[in-house]
Parts: sequence; C-alpha cells; structure tokens
Amino acid sequence: MENFQYQDNQLCAEEVPLTQIAEQFGTPCFVYSKAGLVQQYSAYSQALSGCEHLVCYAVKANSNLAVLSVLARLGCGFDIVSGGELARVIAAGGDPTKVIFSGVGKTLNEMDAALDAGIHCFNIESAQELQQLNQLAMDRNQRASISIRVNPDVDAGTHPYISTGLKENKFGISMQDARELYRQSADMEGLEIIGVDCHIGSQLTSTAPFLAALERTLMLIDDLAADGIAIRHLDIGGGLGVIYRDENPPEPEELISQVRATLGDRPLKLILEPGRSICANAGILLTRVINIKANGGKNFAIVDAAMNDIIRPALYQAWMDVVPVESENSVEARTYDVVGPICESGDFIARDRDLAIATGDLLAVRSAGAYCFAMSSNYNTRNRAAELLVDGGEIHLARRRESFQDQIALETPLP
Ligand code: LLP
Repeated sequence: MENFQYQDNQLCAEEVPLTQIAEQFGTPCFVYSKAGLVQQYSAYSQALSGCEHLVCYAVKANSNLAVLSVLARLGCGFDIVSGGELARVIAAGGDPTKVIFSGVGKTLNEMDAALDAGIHCFNIESAQELQQLNQLAMDRNQRASISIRVNPDVDAGTHPYISTGLKENKFGISMQDARELYRQSADMEGLEIIGVDCHIGSQLTSTAPFLAALERTLMLIDDLAADGIAIRHLDIGGGLGVIYRDENPPEPEELISQVRATLGDRPLKLILEPGRSICANAGILLTRVINIKANGGKNFAIVDAAMNDIIRPALYQAWMDVVPVESENSVEARTYDVVGPICESGDFIARDRDLAIATGDLLAVRSAGAYCFAMSSNYNTRNRAAELLVDGGEIHLARRRESFQDQIALETPLP
C-alpha cells in the first residue's frame, strides 16, 4: 500500500497524482504500481533464496499483459487455469517452461496446447484427468510432467467461496486416493511424476492451516518414497492473505521460513502459486462521485464504478477501503454507502463509511489490484474500465477503456 501515498494532500500512485490520471484517462480506471508488484515478488524470491524454488504467480488474480510482463522480466513463473491464461503468459513474454497448469476441469484442447508450449507441470485433479493426459501424451510420443493436487481436508478459515482444501470441496484428491493414483501413474508411459501439489484456499491470515496441510502432504511424500516414487517438488499453492482493513496476515518471509523449517532436510524444490499477495495492494480503483442522495435515512454516494468493475463486496461481502483522492476538504463528513449505478441493491462497493465528499470528487478503492478487473464484466452494457501501470513518474496505458463498439463486436442482430 505504500506505493499509494498522499503527497500535498493528493493521493498518488508512486509519483503520479491520481487526479492527473483521472483527467488524462477518465474514470473508472484501475491504477497499478510497478514498484508494488516488484516488491511483493521480491519478498517471495528473497525468502526462498538458497532453496531451489519457482514462484508461479497465479494469473487469475490479475492477468493484464503489462502486469504479467513485469513479473516475467523478474524471472517469475506462472500458475494458469485455462488455455487463455497460457496464451496470455506467452503473449506477455513469460517462459512456458516455468508454467504450471492447475484447475479442476482442463479440456483436451487445453492440455494439448500446454504440451505444445512445453509447460513445467500439470497439477492433476482427478483419476480421469490423469488417464486423459496420459493418453494424450502417448499419442504425441511425449511424457507429461505431473503432480497430483491433494486435498488435505484442512480448514483454511476463510470465506467459504474461496476455501478449497476441505474434503467436501470439488478440489484435489484425498490423501489415500492420491497414494494409489501415484502408484498407477508410475506405470503410465505418457506421464512423469515430478511433484505433489496442495492449495487450500485464498486470503489466509495465519500460517497454521498452511502448516497443517504441509504436514499431511509431507507424510504422503514420505509414503511415496517408501513405494519407490521419488517426489522432486512440493507445490504449496497460493493463498497468503493481504491487509484490506485490519487483518494481520504473515509476510511471505514468515510463511516461507516456517515451511522451510518443516521440510527439514528433504531435498525438495519449493513451488508457490501466490496471486493476491503479489498484486492486491499494488492496485487501486479510481472512481468519481456522480451523485449524492439520501433515502430512508441513509446517504448514498453514487459513483461511476460498479459491481461489474469490482464484484468482491457483492460476492464475498468483502470490505474494501475507500478513501478520497484529495484529503483536504471543506465538506462536512457523513456516513455513506458507496454504490454504483447498476440496477441491483447488491451493487455496493462499501457500506457505512464516514467520508467528506461532494459530487465530482474522486475516490480510490484500495487493494483493488487482485480479483477486481479480472472478475469484471459488461453487465448493464458498461464498458470495462481502463487499466494503467505507473512506474515512478510514468504512466503506461495497460488496457484502454472499452468502447461500445468493442462490446458489440461479436454480436449480430437478426437480418
Ligand atoms: N493456486 C490455485 C490452485 C488457486 O485456485 C488460487 C486461487 C491460487 C493459486 C491463488 O490464490 P491467492 O494467492 O490469490 O489467494 N476471487 C476471490 C479469490 C479466488 C481465489 C481462487 N483461487 C477473491 O476475490 O477473494
């Protein structure tokens, strides 16, 4: 968050005042800090120094090509969940040999494209997927490198929609089944076993669930060694939480040092799949107040961003910080619901916030670098927002604002 600070009462992205960005590019728009991305990636890579590792940024969190290219240039790998994400990584100059392919439903076409690209590893989520990949690789006279995603049945203590490591979730394979499946894979000609993978959820704010999952995964790795199956890498997934309000998540360094201590002297390469913790606090959503109104004893600030731009509050009851871009204001503070123009009462960005604002003012929604633009839509035929990447005093237009023509380009009315 330190990349978005007030200078002379003006909120800035690195050295650029957000008012300047609003004038130049309009609102709503997402503004990302390159330094913020670099700092977070470096926090991971430094904590992992001296240990064989690969940080695979989870592309789903923010898949803008500019963001991916910043990370690619730092040597970052990528965790993908679709053929589209693989194509984005390649378009951004990412190294396909540092790509791992997660996801519970990979199509044959997607697996084929990943084999073409020569990705590092497939994270297998079911017995059927294992068979399909084996067949595909044999047809291509290739061996596909795999790890099995285990489901350790650990409660990540996070929102139920983003918790993935409980046995009733659709993700992964139970420890017992995984051991059997590894034994079967060892005899499959199209496959090469290289790792074990585990991802238990997102926005985790303590290390305890990570370590609980890790201990179970290490037991499996030891059992597999007894079966004569040598595991080369351990992928502990992503999920490290960030500060939106008053959370107190561990830093990457704290998590990684505890993980390294738990590994002991096992010669395992460590793979991580962080998404949110790389980019959430490297971005804000910039929006302007269109109208102010009072209804039923409540004050509403209606802004030009909406749930189509930022669905996290509506979908996960997420609390996102909203701050005025100009901190000195003569207007009286009131308690507002900050809402968008969309025709749903679920279209809110923040509720019951004390803000000194007037029509025309700019607001910044903090921590909007992850899972905001990436989850945006055209609902209500709204053009998706522009995205800017700031580097020091420079502004790079990472994605121009959509136009109505862009929106209807794929549609055809009846003749
Ligand atoms: N690896 C796998 C297999 C995943 O499913 C995810 C996220 C990650 C890595 C990255 O997790 P992260 O480090 O970003 O927590 N839209 C939700 C979050 C969904 C997370 C889905 N999987 C939100 O806005 O809170």
